[in-house]
Amino acid sequence: MSDVESLIAELEALQDEALEAVERAQDEEAVEAVRIAFLGRKDGRISGVLRGLGGLEPTDRPRVGQEANRIKQALEKRIEEVDAALAAAREAGDAPDLTLPGRTPRVGGAHPVSRAMDEIWSIFRTLGFTRARGPEVETEWHNFEALNTPLDHPAADEQDTLYLEGGGLLRSHTSPVQIRTMLSHEPPIRILAPGWVHRRDTYDATHTPSFLQIEGLVVDEGVTFVDFKATLAEFARRYWGEGTKIRLRPSFFPFTEPSAEVDVKRVVDGPDGPVETDWLEIMGAGMVDPNVLEAAEIDPDRYSGFAFGMGPARIAMLKYGVSDLRTFFESDIRFLSQFGGVR
Ligand code: DAH
Repeated sequence: MSDVESLIAELEALQDEALEAVERAQDEEAVEAVRIAFLGRKDGRISGVLRGLGGLEPTDRPRVGQEANRIKQALEKRIEEVDAALAAAREAGDAPDLTLPGRTPRVGGAHPVSRAMDEIWSIFRTLGFTRARGPEVETEWHNFEALNTPLDHPAADEQDTLYLEGGGLLRSHTSPVQIRTMLSHEPPIRILAPGWVHRRDTYDATHTPSFLQIEGLVVDEGVTFVDFKATLAEFARRYWGEGTKIRLRPSFFPFTEPSAEVDVKRVVDGPDGPVETDWLEIMGAGMVDPNVLEAAEIDPDRYSGFAFGMGPARIAMLKYGVSDLRTFFESDIRFLSQFGGVR
């Protein structure tokens, strides 16, 4: 066999091998690998054969060159066809099936207690209150004594309060934020302090050992019982709706004098038109006891104030008609989704 013939035979063998490889290719990547292996400029096997052309007689070169071009073109054409067919198959596989029923996206929403907190906050904010916070680990002094609550008071008992090893306790209410705010700020003070509080309570339909409270405090010159009642009545109307009445029931808290339990009576839709609900208790409140002002270094002869404390979970239970507090803690989507999507 002459050099020419053996070169042409080599090229034809390569062509067969390449065509076989193209037909076996499962995807476009595999086709591209075949192209590079046989036709690649640098390391392609056919290109390699053509480099051997230089060793031929000049008169033999055109024949081999033509043959090589014919093989290259045939191979390129087949590679393109297979590539196009594979691409079309892939696209058909990826295409959406327009006959499938749609999937409704799930829209998350705020937890009902967060929702109540936000609504309560936005009302007091428009009434000129600012936010305050205090630590959850408190001293006995801030949690009890400064709030006119002696340590032999039942609330300070280990039965009720979680004391920490090595001193301190988990605050049993947000009222210590009153003390911290008065110690760090001059009146006028108008704050709302939300936060977690902790008690030695059992977990049942109306108690959880940890729960949220919202504390309010107003201290200024000349703050009277009228300011106190009017502020809470305005809050109640904005939160529960026009027509809501409030009632102050005499009560006792060590840090307020006089003290009251605040009830609301709402107007709701009945079968035959609007009806009034029963009185529902929503918070504890009162005029700040002068002893508390004094403990917080505020002159009780010059300043007076009022304070209140409420549980947003209880408020949310009343607002949404929830009868078991534990449902707020169970993260059951079926329960939570009843409160709607995004705020
Ligand atoms: N700290 C009270 C509690 O946890 C709630 C409370 C009652 C707060 C009366 C007040 C208030 O500020 O004036 O039960």
